[in-house]
Amino acid sequence: MKQQLSAGPLGPVAGSRVLVTGGDGLIGAQVVRLLSELGADVTSFDQNAQEATSAGYPPDCSRLTGSVTDRDAVQKAVAGHDAVVHLAGLAGLDRGSPEDIYAANALGTFVVMEAAARAGVVKLVYASSINASGLPLNSHPVLPTRYPFDEDQPIDITDAYSLSKHANEAAARALSRRNGLALTGLRYPLVRDITAAGGTAFARHIRRALYDDPRRQACEGWTYLDVRDAAAATLAALTHDTPAAPAVLVAAPRTYLRQQTEDALRRFAPTVPREFVPDRVVPVRLDRAESLLEFHATVFLEDLDPDLLADLDELTA
Ligand SMILES: NC(=O)c1ccc[n+]([C@@H]2O[C@H](COP(=O)([O-])OP(=O)(O)OC[C@H]3O[C@@H](n4cnc5c(N)ncnc54)[C@H](O)[C@@H]3O)[C@@H](O)[C@H]2O)c1
Repeated sequence: MKQQLSAGPLGPVAGSRVLVTGGDGLIGAQVVRLLSELGADVTSFDQNAQEATSAGYPPDCSRLTGSVTDRDAVQKAVAGHDAVVHLAGLAGLDRGSPEDIYAANALGTFVVMEAAARAGVVKLVYASSINASGLPLNSHPVLPTRYPFDEDQPIDITDAYSLSKHANEAAARALSRRNGLALTGLRYPLVRDITAAGGTAFARHIRRALYDDPRRQACEGWTYLDVRDAAAATLAALTHDTPAAPAVLVAAPRTYLRQQTEDALRRFAPTVPREFVPDRVVPVRLDRAESLLEFHATVFLEDLDPDLLADLDELTA
């Protein structure tokens, strides 16, 4: 029988030393701010540590410039930290060649995990993705095998980004087994500052995404997460004890659609077996996020303005 390991948790956040890779990115900058507000001693490590992105950055946060694929730079950066939040990477297929994406995300994550294991950090939280299953970005017209789907959805991968996220989760399991490194992966969905421009920028984004590739949105269960909630989920992953190296889906509990979820499933996935999903609840099981991390999202599109929700009839009219 396999030895049962557990992943975490970091003790009190105040006074802890936390390295955040990708600290200049969308989610990373929010995590840096949240940890700093809670009294952590935060170091950001990013290849683009630009002053232009510094608005609202905590003045006492140390900033290091380097690539997560550079083993020496990463080892130096990790030294002396209690925990690592690893968010650096190329966050989508449009961010580089397949080789660039796989190198930054798969090799980069492995380098960070190895360095963290050697340095004896207490906890490492890393960015996986709802794309780890490979379904949303698949080059074939695939759909989940059932709704609601969960983290055990069988994989079907055809692209470098999803493959890199799958590799991250495999690496996490390996290092947890070998070193007892405490790791938790978060399968973020579409993450944005949904409040920007009163929510209109996000509303435009989801309408465009639905119009361009409705199958992909169905594979993601029409999920999203505001960046503040993404940071809160990351904090929860740092501070909660979890089974060894789990990947945890995190999302707002309701879709960005105006229609009922049953209606959306009938339109876009009529042949997929499903359990009844009430109202606008996402057709994704968030049980792990709730039971392991006690995470519940708090920022919702409909609270900004119900008219911001995407109307499937308008898209197809
Ligand atoms: N935003 C989303 O919708 C979303 C969804 C699922 C998963 N994720 C994952 O979450 C993580 C963070 O995403 P984000 O939206 O904040 O992306 P982002 O592009 O805003 O930030 C990523 C940061 O990583 C840095 N970076 C890239 N390659 C690097 C390297 N080799 N070395 C050091 N730094 C490097 C970039 O400079 C950038 O600041 C990524 O791993 C992404 O794949 C994001």
